[in-house]
Amino acid sequence: MLIKNVRIENAEIESDVRITDGMFCETGQNLKAADNEEVIEGNGGLMLPPFVDCHVHLDTCLSLDDTGVNHSGTLFEGIQVWSEYRKNLTKDEVQKRALRTLKLYQEKGVQFVRSHVDISNDLTAFQALLELKEKVADEIEIQLVAFPQDGIFTSEKVRKNLNEALSMGADVVGGIPHFELTREHGNRSIRYIMELAQKYDKLVDIHCDEIDDEQSRFLEVLAAEAYETGLGKKVSASHTTAMHSYNDAYCSKLFRVLHMSGINIIANPLVNVNLQGRFDTYPKRRGITRIKELLDNGVNVSMGHDDIYDPFYPLGNGDMTEVLSMGLHLCHMMGYRELNQSYRIITYNGADTLNLEPERYGIAVGKPANFNIFNGRDFFEVLQKRNGIQYSVRNGKVINIEN
Ligand code: FE2
Repeated sequence: MLIKNVRIENAEIESDVRITDGMFCETGQNLKAADNEEVIEGNGGLMLPPFVDCHVHLDTCLSLDDTGVNHSGTLFEGIQVWSEYRKNLTKDEVQKRALRTLKLYQEKGVQFVRSHVDISNDLTAFQALLELKEKVADEIEIQLVAFPQDGIFTSEKVRKNLNEALSMGADVVGGIPHFELTREHGNRSIRYIMELAQKYDKLVDIHCDEIDDEQSRFLEVLAAEAYETGLGKKVSASHTTAMHSYNDAYCSKLFRVLHMSGINIIANPLVNVNLQGRFDTYPKRRGITRIKELLDNGVNVSMGHDDIYDPFYPLGNGDMTEVLSMGLHLCHMMGYRELNQSYRIITYNGADTLNLEPERYGIAVGKPANFNIFNGRDFFEVLQKRNGIQYSVRNGKVINIEN
């Protein structure tokens, strides 16, 4: 396959790209098509590696028609509504909703997804998504997080389910220290999670400090554990919205530990701008971690959609440019260069968060031909006009969304 006239990652000059056996094999100007070679005209559009959604809950997505609505829009009502609904989950129903969600992602150029799956009550949803993950592996890559939504030290059952999910094939150990019974329980849960990660050889991704409490400081504990255990970049902290409320002196100390640890931070701007600040009158906090400052301090930051049309977030369609746009607004990252370079947050930074091997991700000769071609000459124009995707390609094949 020969792709004509694309701008690779904001390049000023248009290039042609040749793909053979599902891999990038040549880039350059004025490449000539071989006999019978399929040619795709890129029309000067932007070529980027696929989007990466580092944090979603495929077990809850697209459930809002069935769960009943969340009238207040708060996290607490969301948890209440979901807790009732999850009692009657079936494998088939979870798989159908998750498959529809994955189709949305494909339409929007997402090819890598990390999904938390609540294992607190039972393993129905986890089993469903484990099977689906294998089934769709050629089309979209999924990492599954065994997520103890109710807290690890709430009951013996949660710990049993967590261990079982890891044995069954979860890729990542999850947690939620700020939701545990006390600060001590939270700290203990982090040590427990790190031990599991080492025992089962898994990654770690914790819902960390997703609360507007400036005293919620589990991130430093997690980072210190990542540093001391050597797990480093295998560890991610999702949300970290309490950082919004930390004082600057503490943040400066914290950033040093984060940088030393190699930990990844995953922001979920769409959902957290909705769920945080709910106890504030005015001014209302923005519910976002300090993305700009973290990046400036050498910390890897990526993003997730978190929820799509479910009791926690009633909107959304899998579009990572919408997630990114919200984060850029909230963090005052609207300078021209920041906007134009921000695609890296939802591409390369996401791939690093997922610990994808460098030889499997990116646009370069010898790597798998996974990419999107957008209508727009650079990412600034893509964000500004939102004119959509011309082509999404995986392993050298154009993804046909209808199938
Ligand atoms: Fe989440």
